[in-house]
Amino acid sequence: MKPIKIGILGAGGFARAFTPLFKAHPLVRAVSLTEILPERRRTEAELAGITETYGSLDELLASDCDAIAIFTQRWMHAPQAIAALKAGKHVYSAVPAGVSVEELAELVETVKRTGLTYMLGETSYYYPSTIFCREMWQQGKFGHFVYGEGEYMHDMSHGFYQAYQHSGGPDWKRTAGVPPMLYPTHTMSMIVSVTGARMTRVSCLGQVDQSGDGVFGKGLNLWNNDLSNETALFRTSDGGSARINEFRRVGHWGGRSVRLSLYGTEGCYEEQPLGDVWVNREREITPLNDLLRCMPLTPEDLEAAGQSKDSTQHDFYSGMAAIHPTWRLPREYTGRPSGHHGSHHFLADDFVRACTTGALPPNHVWAAARYNLPGLIAHESAKREGELMDVPDFGDAPAGASRLEDIIAKLKPAKAPWTLPKPAHVGVAWW
Ligand SMILES: NC(=O)c1ccc[n+]([C@@H]2O[C@H](COP(=O)([O-])OP(=O)(O)OC[C@H]3O[C@@H](n4cnc5c(N)ncnc54)[C@H](O)[C@@H]3O)[C@@H](O)[C@H]2O)c1
Repeated sequence: MKPIKIGILGAGGFARAFTPLFKAHPLVRAVSLTEILPERRRTEAELAGITETYGSLDELLASDCDAIAIFTQRWMHAPQAIAALKAGKHVYSAVPAGVSVEELAELVETVKRTGLTYMLGETSYYYPSTIFCREMWQQGKFGHFVYGEGEYMHDMSHGFYQAYQHSGGPDWKRTAGVPPMLYPTHTMSMIVSVTGARMTRVSCLGQVDQSGDGVFGKGLNLWNNDLSNETALFRTSDGGSARINEFRRVGHWGGRSVRLSLYGTEGCYEEQPLGDVWVNREREITPLNDLLRCMPLTPEDLEAAGQSKDSTQHDFYSGMAAIHPTWRLPREYTGRPSGHHGSHHFLADDFVRACTTGALPPNHVWAAARYNLPGLIAHESAKREGELMDVPDFGDAPAGASRLEDIIAKLKPAKAPWTLPKPAHVGVAWW
């Protein structure tokens, strides 16, 4: 397999977590860094030990990289990905894939036409909860799908003010008021990637922000958006339903801000701050904390990762959980901090393997569209006080395509990598 050269686009906080992983991958021969802000370009390149830098996307696209990894602000991704694909580069994109139906349609068409690799860097796909539910689903343990809940409860005070100031500069409030449902992929992907069904219709209600801090409000931001919390109810294509909450003003814990619960006709997964459980019709309750909790990182681990010890963006770094398939990762990743509940290592490895094998990564463009489109329509519904609206679909990935999951499955150790713990309780009442 021929090693690739990756150009990182955008040198904000998130890129900082991924650049070392791309650099360390055995199938990456070189990494360059592109950032429009000269001072940030210099300091981040120095921190990452990168000597090849550019000041614009055009310069990066004219360079000899094979792939670009997009870490720019959340509303910029689709046009940049399309430009890169047209320039013959594979694309890794931080979420979301796009912020309008039109640009997502063009993105899917461009991937189809160019035949290049496109992968969405959806962290939730490799959260322990999602991996657990996907594997239990594949084993038939849920039965038929009934209902799913995906929630992203990220209060503005939990790191978002700092992140948006770093991102938007003096005018940061203009972009911090982005409608919550324009960032729907963390929640949506946890349900869609487990059941394989898609969201078909939606009714969504929004809550007009009351804080008066100048972020959400008519005339205050690029989207003229006054909604800081949005709740959507979806019909799913398998006849079930799903409820998605995207909250930016909520007095919640915030430690695991992305939350999944999934209900089937045979068994259910439920997640709360102090415990995840598997429950089923046999009246068994199985605690999953030992299987699903990521190992914490020490302040020294954070410092070694180039992150401040008292970082408010603690999500950017984490250890692994017992359920994580670490056996498939390159040896070079051992001992390096991962992030967002262990997902970073898998995302970087998936992308490089997809580019070097030509196989479809799990979070390919058709999956990305199904994680993203429902939120865009939900926000339109919220603007019309819950009007029931159809969610468009751009179809499935090509049926005959080689899939990265199949290649990785062949690497699986003979012994089952994890087993379901024994139930802690069987019966009706236990308190
Ligand atoms: N869990 C997750 O998946 C997760 C977590 C955090 C961030 N993100 C996503 O990652 C992305 C980056 O987040 P961040 O916090 O680092 O953002 P940021 O705004 O701090 O960084 C973006 C950087 O891109 C640069 N940039 C913008 N346009 C450019 C261009 N044309 N050429 C070169 N540089 C350009 C900006 O100057 C800025 O330094 C966002 O889209 C965000 O949604 C995802």
